[in-house]
Amino acid sequence: MTQQMSPQHTSFPRRAVVTGAAGFIGSHLAHALLQAGTTVIGVDRRDPATDPIAAANLEPLRSSPGYVHVTADLIGCAIDPLLIDADAVFHLAGIPGVRPSWGAQFTDYVASNILATKRLLDGAARIRVPRLVVASSSSVYGATDGGHSVETDHPRPASPYAVTKLAEEQLCLAHAAQPNCPTSVVALRYFTVYGPRQRTDMFTHRALVAALTGKPLRLYGDGHQRRDFTYIDDAVTATVAAATAPDAHGVINVGGGSNVSLLEVIGIASSLVGRDIELHQENPRHGDVLVTRAHPGRAHEVLGWKPQIDLHTGMRAHMEFLTAEPAVYGRAA
Ligand code: NAD
Ligand code: UGA
Repeated sequence: MTQQMSPQHTSFPRRAVVTGAAGFIGSHLAHALLQAGTTVIGVDRRDPATDPIAAANLEPLRSSPGYVHVTADLIGCAIDPLLIDADAVFHLAGIPGVRPSWGAQFTDYVASNILATKRLLDGAARIRVPRLVVASSSSVYGATDGGHSVETDHPRPASPYAVTKLAEEQLCLAHAAQPNCPTSVVALRYFTVYGPRQRTDMFTHRALVAALTGKPLRLYGDGHQRRDFTYIDDAVTATVAAATAPDAHGVINVGGGSNVSLLEVIGIASSLVGRDIELHQENPRHGDVLVTRAHPGRAHEVLGWKPQIDLHTGMRAHMEFLTAEPAVYGRAA
């Protein structure tokens, strides 16, 4: 692994494993690594032969000679062969939605977010992988007073999903704290990531699709919820830096430190497309927090990271992507 790093300019690992490579963040990360010359082993349980979104997410990767794709479930697959010779593992695989985690699918959250992570950690130690970057979540903070969430704040996860993400990051940190553990860990608490290929259950995607199609948008609550939205390219930059920053370890927020309400997102989507959005208001969903807002200080100090893309610019890129790719992505889940 090379060691040079300066703000907003980072080095890249020589060989990396990206779990969740067929997903939203994982596919962008894998693409950025490949563009920089990294050999990437992408792992995901979604089968591109039967899952059109996984296939479309993987499409930009498959033509690259540096990319090897493995369709496998981390809950049961052989882990060690995936990790051999890797400088870094980016663990993006997981079950990500806040709202469905109250239901019967919770066992899947536990299996993928906690049990599979434990298997990966054991493998990383056996193969002596030097760095593991794991996707944690702003949701671990739970309800706040509306101010900035600092990494040292006491976490109060408000949904079963958030509980599994807190368990996942703490499991990784507990492994890394063992004497002689060969793997250092950085847990990135991403704050609501958006942009091209965003999951179709997420709000920004749905607001843009509603504007583009004229179909109504379901709004859970009054729309005054606020999120510290993070553009995908900025999230990827922070993620790569987390693998290569020599002294990076522990928990780091990936969020810019400001936030925007859902009503403002609706306004931007509407103005970008030039069409009013019809709203179908529903009750707020259990476990949804009212406000997220990162304290971005540690990301800046440790990773040299500051987000570059404002919400309006990022949503324009997201809208242009949906306009160009309506068949696969241009729908709400
Ligand atoms: P995504 O659903 O698009 O990608 C996750 C991928 O992981 C999927 O392709 C899925 O098939 C794969 N996966 C799940 N369980 C697996 C298993 N057991 N074995 C192999 N593959 C498995 O989600 P995303 O939005 O890209 O999120 C990626 C990660 O980042 C998740 O861990 C999520 O919790 C976290 N995160 C996302 C956001 C966000 O705003 N998108 C914010 C905070 C944290
Ligand atoms: C997002 C991701 O979905 C999680 O994977 C991630 O862990 C989390 O960010 C994070 O930052 O850690 P969330 O902030 O809930 O979770 O993002 P959305 O799913 O886009 O929802 C944002 C808001 O829009 C919520 O209040 C939700 O209730 C609302 N919403 C969502 C609607 O009103 N209508 C919809 O159709 C979807």
